[in-house]
Amino acid sequence: MAENHHSNIFPPAESVKNEAYVKSMEQYSEMYQKSISDPEGFWSKIAEQFYWESGTTGKFLDYNFDVRNGPIYIKWMEGAKTNLCYNAVDRHVANNLGDRVAFYWEGNSLDDDGQITFNELKERVCKFANVLKSLGVVKGDRVAIYMPMIIDITVAMLACARLGIIHSIVFGGFSVESLSERLIGAQCSVLVTADGVWRGTKLLNLKDIVDNAVLKCEAAGHTVEHVIVCRHLLPSDEVVVGEGEEEPRPAVRPCRQLRIKWHAPRDKWWHELVEGASAECPPVWLDAEDPLFMLYTSGSTGKPKGVLHTQAGYMLYSSTTFKYDFDYHPDDIFWCTADVGWITGHTYVTYGPLLNAATSVMFEGVPTYPDPGRFWRIVEKYKVSKFYTAPTAIRSLMGFGDEHVVKYNRDSLKVIATVGEPINPEAWLWYYNVVGNKKCTVVDTFWQTETGGHVISPLPGATPTKPGSATFPFFGVVPVILNEDGTEVQGDGEGYIVFKQPWPGIMRTVYGNQQRFETTYFKKFPGYYTTGDGGRRDKDGYIWVTGRIDDMVNVSAHLLSTAEIESALVEHKAVTEAAVVSHPHRIKGECTYCFVTLKQGFTFTADLLHELRAQVRTKIGPFASPDFIQEAPGLPKTRSGKIMRRVLRKIAVGDKDIGDVSTMADETVVDKLFQLRPADA
Ligand code: WTA
Repeated sequence: MAENHHSNIFPPAESVKNEAYVKSMEQYSEMYQKSISDPEGFWSKIAEQFYWESGTTGKFLDYNFDVRNGPIYIKWMEGAKTNLCYNAVDRHVANNLGDRVAFYWEGNSLDDDGQITFNELKERVCKFANVLKSLGVVKGDRVAIYMPMIIDITVAMLACARLGIIHSIVFGGFSVESLSERLIGAQCSVLVTADGVWRGTKLLNLKDIVDNAVLKCEAAGHTVEHVIVCRHLLPSDEVVVGEGEEEPRPAVRPCRQLRIKWHAPRDKWWHELVEGASAECPPVWLDAEDPLFMLYTSGSTGKPKGVLHTQAGYMLYSSTTFKYDFDYHPDDIFWCTADVGWITGHTYVTYGPLLNAATSVMFEGVPTYPDPGRFWRIVEKYKVSKFYTAPTAIRSLMGFGDEHVVKYNRDSLKVIATVGEPINPEAWLWYYNVVGNKKCTVVDTFWQTETGGHVISPLPGATPTKPGSATFPFFGVVPVILNEDGTEVQGDGEGYIVFKQPWPGIMRTVYGNQQRFETTYFKKFPGYYTTGDGGRRDKDGYIWVTGRIDDMVNVSAHLLSTAEIESALVEHKAVTEAAVVSHPHRIKGECTYCFVTLKQGFTFTADLLHELRAQVRTKIGPFASPDFIQEAPGLPKTRSGKIMRRVLRKIAVGDKDIGDVSTMADETVVDKLFQLRPADA
């Protein structure tokens, strides 16, 4: 999508440059060179701003990136002892910043909002940590969090971090199946959730999904012992028991339709548990390489993988990328629109901002409710200066017209950033011209769940930007472009994006599956971490990420595995085989296009189509619902039986120029597939 021939170069915004930590490309280059030639010197200086209970005892950085030399490992500051929660909260309270607002919370409804200071955050985190302790959860245990965008989700995360409990957050849009799979995968015996949440005009009954997921776990032999329920929607004056009905609540969070079931003693109200809890809870001092959290991400071979991040490295990296890539200063109001359930929310809603003592906005709702001006209304309301969202949101809002943007005051904005997928130049330019009023720097950040934080991104006061390019590597990151045969592309050229040496925020393993970690990221090109993305370096050295080159589809900045969707489809009784490919989509960037072969005796009806969509929604989640499903009497395969996805991608877009088919077993299927394309594809 990114177009290299777009020759426009945009200098950094003057207002940003004047106050920036890094004001020129010379300064960036100097710092960058130091960061890669002397990682210890560079990062140990940064480490000085944090609290360490004790210092590094082993090597500052120790790693093996080459499978030919034995197991892959990455260790930063081994032996040092610290606590992320302490550094993100208590440290600021100790530095007299306790009265500073940590979060302005903006609810789904226009008249629903709140805020929390660092003092209050500390108190709430300590109380909740004591609750976890009282339930017998200890360091190294996993706690699952399945919650909406409310302040309590960060309280739950930080309470885990305070005790060395590994949090495993499951995005609130995942289905019963996906949630139970993750609960079992991480063997979580405690799950933190909320009763329900409004997202725009949709009511999501989280508790009901949790009940069913826990049942599924039970059936698979895994017991979730405690379900802690945060009361977000239900009226405060009553607790609903069994099939009980509650009165409609006239307040700002109506929940007339919400009914929850209660399973005592498993279910416990959060507010009741914290009532008697102490507000004192000493942090547990953890080793630099103790796990901090795991977060599942789609895997190209089907099952999601639990990406594991650890203490010290993630702390250094999340805080430093936040500081430099948004050029954060204490008077900023930062707003990252991502859900905490995704990595962007982990790093740039919770840890990065809090480690910098930043004041952020947290938003529960959706960009189009009650109208497509919501984002800019919020920017005006809180005077947001640094704003971070996904290209899919930009493209969607662009379609509603400029009037929804310009009617709000956006003078506070300085840096407007994006993440999650390649941004097309048209959307970039609209963001720059209309949202940023031509006076903000656009920061396109490329990274992954696995990288922990930004790895390729402009610095807003230094880097001249090109619309659609994520530009240059962050400190400590050494990107390389490889040919298919594994040779490094020098200068101008295209290929696989890989990284040559570890930065502090890189994942440490796949939870419980070191083998899969090595196979997925380190086997294809020994000596390098493989991202799975393709990209190009232009003659000026700018990097353009072009997208996944494995079997992943990026739908609205959410990575989906085609294999996972295929296996959901073939579980339907009518389906014998399914193949899913990516298809371009005007707003979502990409969407999924599914080919399904039916079993004898089944016909491809509108009802079946509906059932197949529903199948994917229940197996994975509503956000994975396929855009196109077509019947495939046969699939194009090689003589060895491999599905030729390259050909399917052509069919999906109606491109008859399918290239070399000499290896195809039966060419006649192709014509049939072209004939059966849905009319709207
Ligand atoms: C894609 C999200 C182009 C990419 C932080 C990557 C991007 C995947 C960009 C990771 C960007 C993310 N330009 N592509 N600025 N940012 N991607 O793990 O394909 O949800 O591999 O992490 O998103 O998605 P994940």
